[in-house]
Amino acid sequence: MARKRQNRLPPPGPETASAPDDDAPIYARIRDEFAAKIATGKLKDGSKLPTVRELAKERSINPMTVSRAYRELAERGFITARPGSGSYVSRPGRNAANGRAQTTAEPSIDPGGISSRLFELARAPGVIAFTGNYPSVEMSDAAAFARCLQESLARGATEYFRYDPPAGREELREALLPFLAEHGIVTRADDLIVTSGGQQGMDIVARHLLARGDRVILEQPAYFGAINVVRAAGAVPIPLRFGPNGFDLNEVADAIRKHNPRLIIINPTFQNPTGHSVPLDQRRGLVDLARENGIPILEDDPSPELRFRGQPLPPLRALPGGNEVVYYTRGFGKTFIPGVRLGFLLPPRGGLHGCLEIKATTDLQSPALLQGALADYLRRTDWQTYLKRLRLGYGERQEELFDILTATLGEYGSLALPDGGLNLWLELPGEISAREVYFNAVRRGVAFAVADSFSFRPERPSALRIAFGLTDPKDYAEGASRLAHVLRNVVSPQRSLSSAVV
Ligand SMILES: Cc1ncc(COP(=O)(O)O)c(C=O)c1O
Repeated sequence: MARKRQNRLPPPGPETASAPDDDAPIYARIRDEFAAKIATGKLKDGSKLPTVRELAKERSINPMTVSRAYRELAERGFITARPGSGSYVSRPGRNAANGRAQTTAEPSIDPGGISSRLFELARAPGVIAFTGNYPSVEMSDAAAFARCLQESLARGATEYFRYDPPAGREELREALLPFLAEHGIVTRADDLIVTSGGQQGMDIVARHLLARGDRVILEQPAYFGAINVVRAAGAVPIPLRFGPNGFDLNEVADAIRKHNPRLIIINPTFQNPTGHSVPLDQRRGLVDLARENGIPILEDDPSPELRFRGQPLPPLRALPGGNEVVYYTRGFGKTFIPGVRLGFLLPPRGGLHGCLEIKATTDLQSPALLQGALADYLRRTDWQTYLKRLRLGYGERQEELFDILTATLGEYGSLALPDGGLNLWLELPGEISAREVYFNAVRRGVAFAVADSFSFRPERPSALRIAFGLTDPKDYAEGASRLAHVLRNVVSPQRSLSSAVV
């Protein structure tokens, strides 16, 4: 059984944080001020914002400054500009990027663009960002990969400038076999499709299997990229409650009976966002249920190697019968080389052809030069030694951050220590709005992802995903202190500590 420390946190220490965003540019402060008002409902859907000229005059600032703030609010889906009429708070249920109506409730922070928001926050000056759930370039094997890339080029670039087959370069598919075998997955190179990351693998499976209105069992909370592919296919997610002990198989059986789902999506190891893993008996039970009912499983498994303690768990695809029902996908960014944008998809028997057609329709093939370098990396690099180093480094960081958070944040939440992965999941008492915490925290100079972004239900859990892949350990204490300040003084100034215990 995995070691799980489920802590009730002690009261917060004295406030130490200052408010660094006083130095933020004026347009950014206006943008964040309106975004917070919209997200917290102080500005209602459909209400009109002051015109650029009015606001500029009221605050004695340049109209260009207001224009820029409004433009960024529009890009992030908070407002819609109606030519000749003004700017209005966007109605929920519209996708900011393309104006399409959504089939289910939208995440209310940065709809449609949470990943770009997290990306921006991770680089914003003065912000201590707990937003990156992948290894930093310094910690990762980027240098070894860069050498492979240079050597691939030195051998002659022209071979990479032709079109390759949509399934990907054979040398890479071959090189993947020993890698998969280490996870208990035995397959053939011809059964694999090289993808542009695990995200593309998920999208291909959703497009291959789902039609508008189909039901999909999806863990709740879930990685927003999984929610997005279900929505993009016009399918309807059916929630499967996911917690420290995985999920309840009876709930899956009920959902199958009631909803006749077309697909089950699961991220079973160090799940994003919670960090929890599905125990072995549930993995077996899920594969059995899927086989009995003829329902495919999409297994999203980006970082099983990031285990700091406990026994490794086999992927669903490696279990008996897994090769009949499981579409297994992963990328290399979460463990090996962030940003390489390569991954693979292993469909079950019968699924290969349809998935290949979609891969070809989407982008013909993933970049050949990167594929060549990755094949080289997998063949020649001692990635087991690298993984040991990575586990050691991040395991220490995880424990250090966990200890600091439990000591600093007071009785505001419940924090679990997962066996691996780069996320901690802080559950707040129900009466604290995670959204409100988020907007105030960003202004205070600390960022993380909020539970709303991982939810497709109208009722949003109150929780924060604290990811530490990119955060300098020197900043842990200050980041925790800023967050404690927000929880104590901004969100719940009147609340007594004892009422905030979960
Ligand atoms: C759970 C999960 N699955 C899949 C992905 C996609 O990863 P990539 O496309 O970089 O392989 C991510 C990225 O954040 C993730 O967290």
